[in-house]
Amino acid sequence: MEKIKTLKVVDVIKETSDAISIHFKQPFFKKIKYTPGQFLTLLVNIDGKVIRRCYSLNSAPKVDQTISVTVKRIKDGKVSNFLFDTVKKGDKIKVLYPMGEFTMEPDPNAKRHIVLFGAGSGITPLFSILKSTLYKEPKSIVSLFYGNRDIESIIFNELLANLKSEFSERLNLIHILEKPGDFSDCYKGRVERTQVPVYLEKVPKWAVEETEYYICGPSGMMNEAEEGLKLCNVPEQFIHIERFSAPPPTAQEMQTQGAFLENREIEIKHKGASHQFTVLAKSNILEAALDEKLKLPYVCMDGICGSCKAKVTSGEVYMRKGHVLTPKEVDEGYILPCICNPVTNNVVIEYA
Ligand SMILES: Cc1cc2nc3c(=O)[nH]c(=O)nc-3n(C[C@H](O)[C@H](O)[C@H](O)COP(=O)(O)OP(=O)(O)OC[C@H]3O[C@@H](n4cnc5c(N)ncnc54)[C@H](O)[C@@H]3O)c2cc1C
Ligand code: FES
Repeated sequence: MEKIKTLKVVDVIKETSDAISIHFKQPFFKKIKYTPGQFLTLLVNIDGKVIRRCYSLNSAPKVDQTISVTVKRIKDGKVSNFLFDTVKKGDKIKVLYPMGEFTMEPDPNAKRHIVLFGAGSGITPLFSILKSTLYKEPKSIVSLFYGNRDIESIIFNELLANLKSEFSERLNLIHILEKPGDFSDCYKGRVERTQVPVYLEKVPKWAVEETEYYICGPSGMMNEAEEGLKLCNVPEQFIHIERFSAPPPTAQEMQTQGAFLENREIEIKHKGASHQFTVLAKSNILEAALDEKLKLPYVCMDGICGSCKAKVTSGEVYMRKGHVLTPKEVDEGYILPCICNPVTNNVVIEYA
C-alpha cells in the first residue's frame, strides 16, 4: 500500500524570479523520516485531477525544523506553474513518503570529502546533503561546484554564503556563472568536462576511496560533469547521479520502438491477483494498467524514480534507455513498466 500523508504548508519563500521553496510542518507525532538526497512526491489536485510530481527535499533531517522542497517553473509545465502561482501558507498538500536512492547516509564518525556538482534547481538534493555533512559529520568536508546563469538565478545564494562563513574550513563553495557581471569570485561559463580537472584543483584532494561525488542538474550539465570526472579517473562507484527528467529518446530509439508497436495482450500479477488486458500501441504498460484501474505503485512515469519496478517472467518487452535500473537488475528481468512496451503477446509481469 502506498503511504500518503497530508502536510501543512507553513511558509513559501521566493528564492529567485522563477523558484519557490515550500516549507511543510514536520508532524509532531510520526515524524516524516528521510535521508539526505531523497525526494517527496506531491499529489497535486488540478481541476479535479490528481497529478504526481517528485521534488527533492532541500531540508536536512535533524538539522532543519521544516521539511522543504524547491519548485522551479518549467515553461508550459502544468504542476510547477500551478504550485508557483497558487501555493500559500496554510495550504494542505498530500504527499507520498520520501523515496529515492540518490542519498548520503550521515555518519558522525565518517571522514570523507563530499564533492557536489549542481546547476539550477539541481541544487535541491545537494543542499540537503551539504547541510547534513556539515552539521552531522564533523570530520568530513564538502566542495560544491554550482553552475547558474547569473547571480540573480542562484537558488540558496545567501544561505550558502552564510554556511561558508560558519564552516569556512570545511566548505568549499565554487560558483560557475555564464554571466558573472561584477561578481569576480567564480568561474565564467558553463560546467564543461575539460574544465572539471581545473575545478578540482581548487579544492583539497582526498584519497579516492574517501571521496564521493554527487551530480544533479540539467542533463547537459550532468553529462559534462560525469564525463569530466571520468577524465579525472574517478571510479564509477563513487559517482552518484540524480535526474529530474529522462533524456529524450534518440532518433534510433524512436525508430526501433515504432517498428514493433502493436496492441498486445499481457498479464500482470499483483498482490495475489492476476489481471489480463490489452496494452494499446500508443500506451506504455503502466498507463494501460492504470486505465484498467490496477492500483500499481508509480511516481514519475518517466523511468527515473524506480518506484514502479516489476519483473518480466515471460515474453519480451522493449524498455526505453536512460532509466535508473542497474545492468544487474535488467539482467535479472526487472523492468520499469512506465517506459516499457510489450514486444510479444505472452508477456507476464510480476510485482513483488
Ligand atoms: C527524482 C526527482 C526529483 C525532482 N526534484 C525537483 C526539484 O527539486 N525541483 C524542481 O523544480 N523539479 C524537480 N523535479 C522535476 C519535477 O518533478 C517536475 O518534472 C517539474 O516540476 C515539471 O513538472 P510540470 O508538471 O511543471 O511539467 P510538465 O507539464 O510535466 O512538462 C512540461 C514540459 O516540460 C518538460 N519538462 C518536465 N520536467 C522538466 C525538467 N525538470 N526540466 C526541463 N524540462 C522539463 C516536459 O518534457 C514537457 O515538455 C524532480 C523530478 C524527479 C524525477
Ligand atoms: S514511475 Fe518512476 S520509474 Fe516508473
